[in-house]
Amino acid sequence: MFSQDELKQQAAQAALDYVLPQLQPDSILGVGTGSTVDRFIDLLAAHRADFKAAVSSSERSTQRLRAAGVTVLDLNDVSSMALYVDGADEVDHQLSMIKGGGGALTREKIVSSVADRFVCIVDESKLVEQLGAFPLPIEVIPLAREAVAREVRQLGGQPVLRAGFTTDNGNQILDVAGLRYGDPIAFEAMLNNIPGVVCCGLFAISGAHVALVAGQNGVSRLELQD
Ligand code: 5RP
Repeated sequence: MFSQDELKQQAAQAALDYVLPQLQPDSILGVGTGSTVDRFIDLLAAHRADFKAAVSSSERSTQRLRAAGVTVLDLNDVSSMALYVDGADEVDHQLSMIKGGGGALTREKIVSSVADRFVCIVDESKLVEQLGAFPLPIEVIPLAREAVAREVRQLGGQPVLRAGFTTDNGNQILDVAGLRYGDPIAFEAMLNNIPGVVCCGLFAISGAHVALVAGQNGVSRLELQD
């Protein structure tokens, strides 16, 4: 029986095997945030000469990438990116995700939006029939925290401030339990429209293109047809 840590390692290895054949010397690789991605970065170190640079979704990943000898570019200096690799807190079979357990959701959504393909790497505990058991992270402007909290209570959610945490953008996070999404795309759009919401951790309007799911019987690949 593999532990969750071992499965994360296998997902990271599968991501490396997936991206390496697609990397060119001038390729820019998007890199997400989290413990699964940390393992991917560690594996990437041996292949840093196979691509030009990375764009990172957090200060944490930037530090780890630089320590691994990978050049990290600002997103503003990049006009295209073939691949973005990141973990998730939940992913469903439509490849919609909940993200932001590590607090990097806003930069993750921005960087991944520039990439042609989002490669989601998870252990099998993250693959769900329906999104919603994991409390939804919502990054808020501090001034708007209570106003946003009132709005999400109206939607049936129970918001909790992530104590002692400030995002890389200087904002706060509400973790919201109890939400039922129904139509995740419409729900994400509705949350985006609440004044003071910087970003929500629902990735349904733009989900992943492929998920590499590490389980007890190996890594399976879920892919939506274009
Ligand atoms: C960070 C994220 C992570 O991808 C998500 O929390 C999964 O993390 P881990 O790989 O540590 O389980 O969205 O903001």
